[in-house]
Amino acid sequence: MRVVDIIQSKRDGFELSTQEIEFLLNEYMQEKVPEYQIASFLMATYFQGMTDRELVDFTMTMRNSGDIIEFPKINKFLVDKHSTGGVGDKVTVVLAPILASLGMATAKLSGKGLGHTGGTIDKFESIEGFNFSNTKEELSEIAMKTGIGLMGSSDKIVPLDKKIYALRDVTATVPSIPLIASSIMSKKLAIQNDVIILDVKVGDGAFMKTLDIARELAKRMVAIGKGTNRQVKVVLSNMDEPLGHNIGNALEIIEGIEALKGNISSDLKEVVYTIVSLALKAKGDIKEISEGKKIIDDIIKTGKPLEYFANFIKESGGNPEIINDYSLLPTAKNVLEVKSISSGLVSKIKTEEIGKAAMVIGAGRETKESIIDHAIGIKILKKVGDRVEKDEVIAKIYYNDDSKVNVSKEMILESYVIGNEISSVVTPILDIVE
Ligand code: URA
Repeated sequence: MRVVDIIQSKRDGFELSTQEIEFLLNEYMQEKVPEYQIASFLMATYFQGMTDRELVDFTMTMRNSGDIIEFPKINKFLVDKHSTGGVGDKVTVVLAPILASLGMATAKLSGKGLGHTGGTIDKFESIEGFNFSNTKEELSEIAMKTGIGLMGSSDKIVPLDKKIYALRDVTATVPSIPLIASSIMSKKLAIQNDVIILDVKVGDGAFMKTLDIARELAKRMVAIGKGTNRQVKVVLSNMDEPLGHNIGNALEIIEGIEALKGNISSDLKEVVYTIVSLALKAKGDIKEISEGKKIIDDIIKTGKPLEYFANFIKESGGNPEIINDYSLLPTAKNVLEVKSISSGLVSKIKTEEIGKAAMVIGAGRETKESIIDHAIGIKILKKVGDRVEKDEVIAKIYYNDDSKVNVSKEMILESYVIGNEISSVVTPILDIVE
């Protein structure tokens, strides 16, 4: 078999065999294929795409390039929820304790934030003493004890994805839908779970800017699930405004705790409730997503999800008292009110810009090496559809360092589009693909 022939077949639109895909990827993994050949294969794939069969083979070969994590001792229904990244996305903070209190478990890898999007690791690391699981044994143990296990992403899981992603990045092939689908799914398939629920964010603040492209990605990931006998469900959720009100790590933990106390914004509620309901449906507890709402409302009223959250924090080395005393979390020294420069209806919030406004003051990372300040961030007081008056406070910036706060304020003002009408209604859940 020759790599050049495989590239030529892909270039000319022929379907590659399983053996060809395995040969190409395994040889590359062993550094026997030069990067220029893989780069050219990626570009051919960008234009020709992959059939579902090719995609399953490609994804499984990627998955098999590293460690596979299994949990033989956990006998609970295992849910792996993954988000493609958004602004104010604290879904995992709220979701995992609710799932645990309903008898399910989460045991998954979590990421750090980069650019305008945040990461779950950073949010929990705002809790002093909090430690993530470092090994699969630790992950399994804490998930068994608390129903929640989160491990930092590991270089040992799908190492091939790292190599290929780096090449995609410099060859303008990142946006290829089959390459995105296989990149995400290979990492999900490397971990044992009973259902994979993917929260694909769509809109201004998201990686997927339009619903059509996001839907296409969702369908391809569901197809990978079908081809590998795994349950995959995809929620397409709206990122045309930040999710909930708080952006920034400690601030998002506080909003997450409040949500577990029943004080939850309507958009965050809809996303969390939909994902919990999909998990209940996958487990066989309910038949229709609409049946989930009462179950979730009832469990939140018992206070159990909050107890599961506190127990998870305690077992992870943090102080569970944070649920009653937010001053135990890092707190910014200063607050700047951002006031509207006109009256009208908030017709749009440029979400990516808001994410960047949080990043410039140090709540997020500009590069992988940036140091973040967990205390700081932005509170969004006015959301799409709200009426505002001139000089009314629309957002608050929580900051420690004076030097960038005015830049951040200007960015927030620039993000708010205030007019006489709402250009589009922001529906939190745009579609579900199963
Ligand atoms: N997230 C991933 O893990 N991979 C991609 O290619 C895109 C988003």
